[in-house]
Amino acid sequence: MVTETSAATPFATTLPGRYYYDPALYQREQERIFGRMWVCVGRADAIPRPGDYLTVDLAGESVIVVRGHDGAINAFLNVCRHRGARLCTERCGHVTGAIQCRYHAWSYGLDGRLLGAPNIRDMDGFDRAAYGLIPVACALWGGLVWLNLADDPAPLAAQIDAAILQRFGELETVERYRLDELAVGHTIVYDLACNWKLVVENFMECYHCAITHPELSHFVPSFKAGLAYQQGVGARFSDGVDSLTVSGKTNRPPLPGLLPQDLRTYYGFVLLPNVFVNLIPDHVVIHTLWPEGPTRTRIVCDWLFDPAAMAQPDFDPMDAVAFFDLVNRQDWEVCELCQQNMASRAYQDGGLYVPLEAHIRAFNDFVLARLEE
Ligand code: FES
Ligand SMILES: [Fe+2]
Repeated sequence: MVTETSAATPFATTLPGRYYYDPALYQREQERIFGRMWVCVGRADAIPRPGDYLTVDLAGESVIVVRGHDGAINAFLNVCRHRGARLCTERCGHVTGAIQCRYHAWSYGLDGRLLGAPNIRDMDGFDRAAYGLIPVACALWGGLVWLNLADDPAPLAAQIDAAILQRFGELETVERYRLDELAVGHTIVYDLACNWKLVVENFMECYHCAITHPELSHFVPSFKAGLAYQQGVGARFSDGVDSLTVSGKTNRPPLPGLLPQDLRTYYGFVLLPNVFVNLIPDHVVIHTLWPEGPTRTRIVCDWLFDPAAMAQPDFDPMDAVAFFDLVNRQDWEVCELCQQNMASRAYQDGGLYVPLEAHIRAFNDFVLARLEE
């Protein structure tokens, strides 16, 4: 694989088509990207009470994410230490006090300790402490829960801060939006018939914006010009546009803590491997991607608002939801159009990125480097 980003040409090659459908490459990505990096698995406020849990399939492992009695969120492999039965079988739920295996009723505390094993006494030479659930590294950022299956992962902040510094050159802009203090006003889950990387690549460029997103481009002139990441700063709205809503207007005040330069401005960025953040003056839209096979991707899209704005009697998130839902559907359609031809012989060597998209090649190089590690 040769990366053509020499001074001679401002164009770059894409990945060959097989990277978007080959099960073996998908498997390797699962192992080496999703199995080794911090991966976002959802929002912390989705499991507010002790005993609330969610389960996720991450790089071939089922993981339980559960809020403990101390309020902290812990994660464990969803595997009974007795004979290996899957413990929690629902995508989310609540357990009262303990996680109990339905096979022989071993029970585990919300902190993973083995609490009870019927008919086994410690005097039988059984070391109960050695049979707790296997922990998975779990940390929070921006109100989101992140897991890492690696044995001894670097702190989550190292991964997040590096991405934000690369995009903004500083951390303060993103911090001003206080993502962990916002609350979900609406959620839409999308099932896409395409590889997860097509969605990332599409999010990273705006060469498509003028044609794919006429409404968005009307509100954000730099998008009409195809400029996305190249600016390094935010994208200013057109005159008279205050938010990315159907009307371009909003009855919500700007999020608390924003500076004048944040008003009438959009900032978007990717937190690899699976989060897109869209900062808008009065709300935030977060996409969490979930690869569900070489050619399937599940995307959870959350619209976040200031809880004080949500407490107003006239609060209605749908002006913001309808607008970005339209943008989402426009994006998903073109991602799926690409997927349909990834296996064509016309694309077996891939295609090219034009200068407005050439920065995406860095993402492809990241994928290749991880796969070859
Ligand atoms: S497999 Fe879980 S208690 Fe036996
Ligand atoms: Fe788009």
